[in-house]
Amino acid sequence: MFPWPAVTAVRSRLGSATAGDPVPHRIEEAVIVTPPSAASWTHAEEYVGEDEILAKARARAEEVGVVAIGSGGGAALRFLASVLDARAVVEIGTGTGVSGLWMLRGMRPDGVLTSVDTEAEHQRLAKEAFTEAGVPPQRARLIPGAALEVLPRLTDGHYDLVFADGDKQEYPEYLAEALRLLRPGGVVAFDNALWHDRVADPAQRDPDTTAIRELSRIVGEDDALVPVLLPVGDGLLLAKKVWVPEG
Ligand SMILES: C[S@@+](CC[C@H](N)C(=O)[O-])C[C@H]1O[C@@H](n2cnc3c(N)ncnc32)[C@H](O)[C@@H]1O
Repeated sequence: MFPWPAVTAVRSRLGSATAGDPVPHRIEEAVIVTPPSAASWTHAEEYVGEDEILAKARARAEEVGVVAIGSGGGAALRFLASVLDARAVVEIGTGTGVSGLWMLRGMRPDGVLTSVDTEAEHQRLAKEAFTEAGVPPQRARLIPGAALEVLPRLTDGHYDLVFADGDKQEYPEYLAEALRLLRPGGVVAFDNALWHDRVADPAQRDPDTTAIRELSRIVGEDDALVPVLLPVGDGLLLAKKVWVPEG
């Protein structure tokens, strides 16, 4: 038995068509969920720890009011960059460099991170973190500006990984840009896919939550993507752009 209480949630799924009921309709059913205890959650989040350099970058983030990705999400990003053998990564929302450092550490040693942020001060602090980590300057291309103005200037089909952590209301538009930028087989990742427990709560209808919900719907319905929503940190939505045979 689990030492913590199980909770009942309602799952909604599309039923199958039958001879008597040819139009598939939604079925709602109760499911028993046993969420991890706070201790297990913390254990998983901290399983891959952070060194002094990441801790300093995180402290700078707190000082300037940037919410950096947690260590669990950072470790997932490093893992992804490593599995993809990433040579070219785009990041939307540099912050003070916490997520950038995690990804640079998973990429190939000659891989280049292209990171976009509206705040020059955040990028200055990120540069400081990369220098402290011994990242050669040519491996981090920091572009100041609004994502939706900068991304259209980047090369189609060139990138292995796109990580989005900028303006939540622009997430659906970031997806469209990411799918253009990614090579087949590349992966797009969105932080805050659970948005502080608001996405799963239908009563929450603020613009940020609505945009993230819309993004989740588009990703889930796109046959050219292989999606997964990892409940790490505040939720990390991943989707692989599948190979589509030409002709
Ligand atoms: C949550 S923080 C990023 C944290 C960083 N990814 C990390 O985990 O260390 C969001 C960042 O996105 C930037 N930002 C907000 N809106 C943006 C936009 N439209 N285009 C580019 N950057 C944006 C903010 O200035 C901020 O630095």
